[in-house]
Amino acid sequence: MSPLAGALLRLLLLAGVAAAAACAVPPPAASRLARLSTDFGARLFGVLARRSPDRNVAFSPHGAASVLAMLQAAAGGETRGQLERAMAYSLGEKGVPRALRWLQQALSDPAKEELVETAEALFVQRDLPLTPGFMPRFHQMFRQTVKQVNFTESERARGIINDWVQQHTAGMIQDFLPAGTMDEMTRLVLVNAIHFKGHWRTPFPVAATRQRLFHKLDGSSVAVPMMEQTGKFCYGEFSTPAQVGYDVIELPYQGETLSMFIAAPFENAPLSALAAALDAQLVAEWKSNLLCATRLLVLPKFSLETESDLREPLRALGVTAMFDAHAADFSSLSDQESLFVAQALQKVKIDVNESGTEAASATAAVVYARMAPLEVVMNKPFLFVVKHNLTGALLFMGQVMEP
Ligand SMILES: *[C@@H]1O[C@H](CO)[C@@H](O)[C@H](O)[C@H]1NC(C)=O
Ligand SMILES: *[C@@H]1O[C@H](CO)[C@@H](O)[C@H](O)[C@H]1NC(C)=O
Ligand SMILES: *[C@@H]1O[C@H](CO)[C@@H](O)[C@H](O)[C@H]1NC(C)=O
Repeated sequence: MSPLAGALLRLLLLAGVAAAAACAVPPPAASRLARLSTDFGARLFGVLARRSPDRNVAFSPHGAASVLAMLQAAAGGETRGQLERAMAYSLGEKGVPRALRWLQQALSDPAKEELVETAEALFVQRDLPLTPGFMPRFHQMFRQTVKQVNFTESERARGIINDWVQQHTAGMIQDFLPAGTMDEMTRLVLVNAIHFKGHWRTPFPVAATRQRLFHKLDGSSVAVPMMEQTGKFCYGEFSTPAQVGYDVIELPYQGETLSMFIAAPFENAPLSALAAALDAQLVAEWKSNLLCATRLLVLPKFSLETESDLREPLRALGVTAMFDAHAADFSSLSDQESLFVAQALQKVKIDVNESGTEAASATAAVVYARMAPLEVVMNKPFLFVVKHNLTGALLFMGQVMEP
């Protein structure tokens, strides 16, 4: 196979796909839902990658899909319709709520050797009037924790949320929501946190790691520490619909339910073609077409920490109404206030070394109340005057006692 070096390193956390498939007796809708969620997350990654073709991006499709599913539960009307179309499923479909819950549990199965922890939380303004029935419906689908906070004390609320994220990512993600992300108009913050720690089934010997050249897309090279080991690896050669050839190699973690797949074009081709083609089916095709043989594998150690604003990528996928203070409809959550999504962001950190991988992500949607315009209601008898602006002449006047 061609060297894995030669392309800018980008990473997609695929952990969720493999793990979800491994649990006992899934409900009928679960595999479809897993596939659709993965596809949605991968499409979002495709947009993000296209927008920043020469910087590192680490992304969690599962984290994004999870927060968007929670938003779908809170939305109504066209806001919900857009989410359903973008995600290709509706929470209202038969079997979907149960499948959603099953998938969340299957991901964090404590019986498994690898450590995958996912958590969702809903931080809600203490006195926000919720639509009757919202909480029970929400509980049925998501294993989230509901926490009441007071966003009037916005720094304190931000501290509570950031502490929660830090705790659920084993300290990997600190200060997740930056100052200024919330104020007294904030009503709700929906968060997903993921922490993953896996040991390679066959670790790389630390002594074999040495500096080697990594060839960047712009033609320059940098010396980076590369790990190496000889062992039995499963790999394959594939090509995109546009005939860009690439290698795929699978690195399994201990416990056999999770693997990292690394894909790199043969030539110094942009990764965008590959990123655009990525979906659940493609990853499944990789998995079933790899051949296993003894090879010497050389792979850089790497550590990425990236933050992504998800608003523009979501708009590009047709999810626009929820960001519009006037069009957003979150009536399933609260019909007492006009709510809209002001921020949608994700932070991911991943460390890959000789012994394995540790990664964490936090994804949040920050929901604000629209500032209600001051009302002026003419519901009593009134006078009217029609004045010519330029000359000051009063052209008409009158009174209205009953319209
Ligand atoms: C939120 O905090 C503000 C300022 O401390 C206080 O005036 C208000 O009563 C609190 N609201 C609730 C619902 O606790
Ligand atoms: C790899 O990183 C993990 C933390 O992510 C650390 O505990 C471990 O010691 C590291 N292994 C090596 C060989 O550096
Ligand atoms: C009225 O006239 C003033 C200047 O005389 C101008 O600034 C203003 O825009 C005009 N208003 C309208 C409604 O035309």
